[in-house]
Amino acid sequence: MSRAEYTHVACFLFHPSPLIAHPSSKLPISSRGISLQSSTIAPTLAPVYPYGMSALLEVQDLRVEFPSAKGPVTVVEGASFTVAAGEPVALVGESGSGKTLTALALLNLIPPPGRIAGGRVLFNGRDVLGFSPAMLQAFRGKEAAMVFQEPLSALNPVMTIGRQVTEAVSAHERVSKQAALARAERLLGRVRMTDPKRILSAYPHQLSGGMRQRAMIAMALASGPALLIADEPTTALDVTVQAQVLDLLNELRESEGMALLLITHDLGVVARAAARVYVMYAGRIVEEATVRNLFEAPAHPYTRGLLRSLPRLGRRERRLRAIPGAVAPPGSFHASCAFAPRCDRVDEACRNSVPALLQPSPGRAVRCLFPLDPPKEQVAP
Ligand SMILES: Nc1ncnc2c1ncn2[C@@H]1O[C@H](COP(=O)(O)OP(=O)(O)O)[C@@H](O)[C@H]1O
Ligand code: SF4
Ligand SMILES: [Mg+2]
Repeated sequence: MSRAEYTHVACFLFHPSPLIAHPSSKLPISSRGISLQSSTIAPTLAPVYPYGMSALLEVQDLRVEFPSAKGPVTVVEGASFTVAAGEPVALVGESGSGKTLTALALLNLIPPPGRIAGGRVLFNGRDVLGFSPAMLQAFRGKEAAMVFQEPLSALNPVMTIGRQVTEAVSAHERVSKQAALARAERLLGRVRMTDPKRILSAYPHQLSGGMRQRAMIAMALASGPALLIADEPTTALDVTVQAQVLDLLNELRESEGMALLLITHDLGVVARAAARVYVMYAGRIVEEATVRNLFEAPAHPYTRGLLRSLPRLGRRERRLRAIPGAVAPPGSFHASCAFAPRCDRVDEACRNSVPALLQPSPGRAVRCLFPLDPPKEQVAP
């Protein structure tokens, strides 16, 4: 087994999906040999279709590139997606597929020498990529906020949690020190910290991983953003805490009326916390569906591979079926399907052309020359 395969398998062995631990879910997802038996979509997450509504976030043909000795290398290629107000949407794909750079591009935060080489990021109809530095500063945090995978590196180790949360409160609003502190305490309570007063005076290293992530979420909520971008927010946490943090994110999404863009490598996380999903591979969106449709009837061979990598309830698997090989490095697949080296349906045509994104029905899209069979009965959204 290659190192990449081993890492992928190990990841699912040691970070089993919180999906399979969901106690309250009822909707079975099982068909076409991809039986997740008791796996479910969280009951509060009936799919929300943005069609007919105006999108809060509309990303059009986004392209991100980095310079290299051989010329610019495109790492995000023509990504287009939407998130409606209040909607929980996931962006899923293996490590290296371009998820974090896509998220950073939404806030115009691509680290130099990388750059956004094309596309538009519309937020409530305004193009974020055309914002002045002052507009961007007002936008980040206040309208769209982000939480990261590693709260320990995102938090300042020598500042108390209280000081960091109050700074987040004062960043966009003139409030007295006392009022900011009172708000910080309320925010810590909102993210279900027990004894928020005590947490205010704690330093990050004195908190557990789950509590640090809650503190980060509290900071992100400080200015009441309309969109919360969460980049692998639970990957570093153990399974029980993962589930708690995902549920917290969705409770907050509902109570605050926020949209949630959840970025993850784990379809278990998607099933628990999102209603609609975009699958990303090698910098491109390769499938779009409701979470339910994706689990019932994946159309892209890569999505099917991801689903097969999930542990299944009720079956003792000797070995999880990892997708062979690793994500193709950026810039190595200009004139072919990027998934061709790993695809069991590959044909000569796949090596000679880049598949376009086909839209067989509203809300469903697939980038493949030979997609998997459509479901016999269309699954209701
Ligand atoms: N600062 C950088 N310079 C050059 N390449 C980068 C940089 N950051 C990321 N990349 C490349 O861009 C691709 C996508 O990265 P990233 O968005 O972090 O993936 P993901 O979040 O899906 O794991 C990877 O192949 C990575 O090597
Ligand atoms: S285009 Fe061909 S190689 Fe690419 S995913 Fe589809 S079948 Fe596989
Ligand atoms: Mg990432």
